[in-house]
Amino acid sequence: MISASKTTEKFALTTPLYYVNDLPHIGSAYTTIAADILARFARLQGKSVMFVTGTDEHGQKIQRTAESKGRSPQAYCNEIAAGFVALWEKLDIQYDSFIRTTSTKHEAIVKEFFQRVWDQGDIYKSRQQGWYCIACEEFKEERELLDGHRCPIHTNKQAEWRDEENYFFRLSRYQSQLEELYQQHPDFIQPESRRNEVLNFVSQGLQDFSISRVNLDWGFPIPVDPKQTIYVWFDALVGYLTALLNPDDEPNLENVLSQWLPINLHLIGKDILRFHAVYWPAMLMSARLPISHKVFGHGFLTKDGQKMGKSLGNTLDPIALVERYGADAVRYYFFKEIEFGKDGDFNETRFINVLNADLANDLGNLLNRTLNMVKKYCNGNVPDCSSDDIPADHPLKAIGLTLGEKVAHNYEALAFNQACDAILSLVRAGNKFIDEQAPWTLYKQGQQQQVEQVLYTVLESIRLAAYLLSPIIPNVSSKIYQQLGFSINFNEKSQIVVTPFNSHAKWGLLSVNEKLGTPKPVFQRLELLQAI
Ligand code: MSP
Repeated sequence: MISASKTTEKFALTTPLYYVNDLPHIGSAYTTIAADILARFARLQGKSVMFVTGTDEHGQKIQRTAESKGRSPQAYCNEIAAGFVALWEKLDIQYDSFIRTTSTKHEAIVKEFFQRVWDQGDIYKSRQQGWYCIACEEFKEERELLDGHRCPIHTNKQAEWRDEENYFFRLSRYQSQLEELYQQHPDFIQPESRRNEVLNFVSQGLQDFSISRVNLDWGFPIPVDPKQTIYVWFDALVGYLTALLNPDDEPNLENVLSQWLPINLHLIGKDILRFHAVYWPAMLMSARLPISHKVFGHGFLTKDGQKMGKSLGNTLDPIALVERYGADAVRYYFFKEIEFGKDGDFNETRFINVLNADLANDLGNLLNRTLNMVKKYCNGNVPDCSSDDIPADHPLKAIGLTLGEKVAHNYEALAFNQACDAILSLVRAGNKFIDEQAPWTLYKQGQQQQVEQVLYTVLESIRLAAYLLSPIIPNVSSKIYQQLGFSINFNEKSQIVVTPFNSHAKWGLLSVNEKLGTPKPVFQRLELLQAI
């Protein structure tokens, strides 16, 4: 039995803390599902997991949005944060910690963190002049802006001119330490294209950045000067630390340090790379805290080939999507169809075709027809056959024997689409094999032993596929497992802890002792309704 002991390998990962100016969009769902898949896979492997997500609730963007709706910022944040929690539940997201940056424990951690950086002499007051994009909550270089001082990311928003006295963080002091970090840990920033982007940015010379704002109430006061508030990004990044506290811990950095640091992985979209790959490690260096191991910047989603945006009126509502098609369908499409580091597209026809082909036909039908044959030809029991007696070059066993290792490698490299392809290749080989072997004919010819072996090898291949796909499609996988006689629900963390990876990720586990369940479709075919 694998249990969480002191020697158990730890895996701490985060999604960005999402702005609560609006309900979650498909981009936030995309990162959060990716993190959930990785967390689930690490749990399958017996690791002790801390999966952090949450909401970024301070700053001008939130304050202005709340004001425009005639709401107090806190009431507005409460409502939207609840919307995130509700969507994560619908999508079967199993986070371990949900951090809201307006929580009082977070205020204590931010204060202590600020003090550490202050004590290093890394904070000073100076004049800040420049163009500020409120939607990005970031100063922009004039040369980055489009005509009319519009932001290149939020093209319908104009950056605002600011000229104020702010507190600055001495980022420039960390230039060489950061360069050393990127050199000594080449996989700190992934994928490679993002790493090059960061190296290029850093090589131009790092500038100190302001970490306070004046004339803004919605934020924590600067401890040494309460007329100023802490810049929302400084506050939010520290949220990753607050999230690591146990619920009953005193909120201090010593407790943060005691268990989960360093964080193994920050999953983010490519637009917030600089904050995570440059500012954040420098802040941690200044505060004398362990640097995270890896930052992975994924691509952007488009819809029907076009950039998604409110101004274009083509946003994709994740709530509508999951309500219409269910969590597994949404989870599968984005990770089977899109290479994680690259941009990818949502198209509803493609969505339906992929799900029907892979989950309803290739996987679901194969299970259903095989179980029905088992009922007819083997009295509904697991076919009487030992995997040891099947030669290693058997077409399904040959794939199955190395699949677990291959797929583990794919998940660890965040190559979700490759994991799906590898698993589906076993399923497709199962379909081909059963058609070629025609157990119905073998049965008529009285070749019972052959029939049992064909059906066993197909069922075992489906089992392995279901297990390895369970981080992506936990509901379909649970149904398959239950029909194969296991009482495992992949949504129950407590059951995962006692399910040894070494035997389940290996071809040949199914045994005659298992009592097969009733064949029922595991994935209903989808129909194209009016496009979302
Ligand atoms: N609050 C900051 C993060 C602070 S982390 C300490 C923030 N929030 S956000 O809500 O605006 O963005 C969250 C994530 O959504 C980002 O990783 C961003 O890349 C991602 N996406 C926004 N639009 C997206 C797509 N169209 N496609 C994929 N992801 C996109 O930034």
